[in-house]
Amino acid sequence: MKYLYDAGTEDGKKLLLLHGTGGDETSLVDIARFLDGGCEILSFRGEVKEDGMNRFFKRNGLNQFDLDSLEEETDKLYEEIKQISAEKNVPLSDWILVGYSNGANIAAHLLLERETELTQGLFFHPMSLGVHEKQFSLKEKRIWLSFGQGDPIVTLESFNELAASFEQRGADLTIKQTSQGHQLSAEEVNHARNWLHHIPL
Ligand code: MLT
Repeated sequence: MKYLYDAGTEDGKKLLLLHGTGGDETSLVDIARFLDGGCEILSFRGEVKEDGMNRFFKRNGLNQFDLDSLEEETDKLYEEIKQISAEKNVPLSDWILVGYSNGANIAAHLLLERETELTQGLFFHPMSLGVHEKQFSLKEKRIWLSFGQGDPIVTLESFNELAASFEQRGADLTIKQTSQGHQLSAEEVNHARNWLHHIPL
């Protein structure tokens, strides 16, 4: 997979970025640097094309997810993460997955459906993909999710289903709701920054 890597400073957080539909490996870089100025960045470009737009897995229309593609691409992504982490000498447990929309969806799926040493996730505007195969404990995971009450794509029901998947399996879950839509807002990004730096919310 195509990716961007920046070593950042020695004490920077290690942020693994996954863009939304139509984005690329550069889309979340400014947000990442806002979240943590000296962050180490590993940012992937989704390999699935939809009318020229990059995505991390196929869909057959809005919110009509291709679950075979989802599983296949999740495995591919995880293999890439493991390989590059080994090359860069980063323990998997040090990464904080940072995803927006489609990138958040595949990242959440990776944490929910694969037993990995990845432990932290910061997911902007994710939703449930309706897959609930695994039941292993998530009590080592620290997860932050955002939801926009005016989101035309992510319903409250779908967001709540995703949040429950993490919560019921023991994850340490933080939720930030705003009155906004599907786009990133300054309010949620500031909240995410405080969560990342363990500042009481
Ligand atoms: C998107 O437009 O990216 C959707 O909201 C999320 C997805 O398709 O995974």
